[in-house]
Amino acid sequence: MEKNFTLHYGDLTDSTNIIRLIQQIQPDEIYNLGAMSHVHVSFDEPEYVANTDGIGTLRLLEAIRILKLEQKTRIYQASTSELYGKVQEIPQSEKTPFYPRSPYAVAKMYAYWITVNYREAYNMFACNGILFNHESPLRGETFVSRKITRGISEVLLGLKKNIYLGNLNAKRDWGHAKDYVEAMYLILQQDTAEDYVIATGVTTEVREFARRAFKYVGVSIDYEGTGLNEKAIVTQVENDEWKVKKGDIVIEIDKRYFRPTEVDLLIGDATKARTKLGWSPKHNLDDLIQNMMDADIKLFKKDILLNQSGFTQNRQFE
Ligand code: GDD
Repeated sequence: MEKNFTLHYGDLTDSTNIIRLIQQIQPDEIYNLGAMSHVHVSFDEPEYVANTDGIGTLRLLEAIRILKLEQKTRIYQASTSELYGKVQEIPQSEKTPFYPRSPYAVAKMYAYWITVNYREAYNMFACNGILFNHESPLRGETFVSRKITRGISEVLLGLKKNIYLGNLNAKRDWGHAKDYVEAMYLILQQDTAEDYVIATGVTTEVREFARRAFKYVGVSIDYEGTGLNEKAIVTQVENDEWKVKKGDIVIEIDKRYFRPTEVDLLIGDATKARTKLGWSPKHNLDDLIQNMMDADIKLFKKDILLNQSGFTQNRQFE
């Protein structure tokens, strides 16, 4: 059988490992998606994040330079809408000034600029994709979109009573990861190395994301109360398969999930990507929610069947 995929052990905190790997592989393209990528967790391990997300990018760029691969190896740096932080402009484009609001975003800011610097100093094909939030059924369980779709699935199937969330007011420009990886690829296929914003141009509150996810499976909710006392209560259930009923409290607030400094509003302007790359997203937020809800309901139904036949799985993450 033809082998077309090889996994290597790599570590962004280990320069010699990175140099040896790049020397051995002689890659045409590198996509640096490696990071400790959870914004809230970055407040607990800021030094590790600076090392991995910031200096890790430098290690890759420097390896390309040391190995004299500047004219062969193209590199994509996973920059992020978190760079805009306390936003200086609405919507955010490639020209909007950065104002990072977490150790994660500050580390990513170093990575952004070192990528630009190596492009300008050594004529490397090094690009930043400034991607806004992108989700899919493969999203980590602790990011809010997946926490919601997993949590709702568990509530529907009677595996738990409710979901605890943090700041429901935050607004994000959520897209489907499938569309965003196409953009990453296109960025490295251009004639000139440039930086691009990748976004849908639509922003939605966390509160509304959850409401729509419930709605998709036939459960209507209303929010009552404010601040830490806000709750989502079921007002109608259209599917009698589900183990929720009118009056159930399905979302509550836990202050543990609030961040020391928050990014309140992200909405991207991807005009440059549309014009130069011919890129636009094929999925909207409802497509994304449906895709994630279908996958998580299937996952937990499978768990229930496995448990009934004596297998146990622990899917408890937060
Ligand atoms: N994780 C989480 N858990 N977030 C919550 C919760 C909760 O229980 N409740 C409310 N939120 C809010 C957060 O405070 C934040 O404002 C928003 O939901 C989105 O949080 P995340 O899904 O954790 O993503 P993020 O926007 O902080 O960062 C993601 O997107 C960036 C691109 O803009 C990550 O993937 C980053 O690595 C990425 O760079």
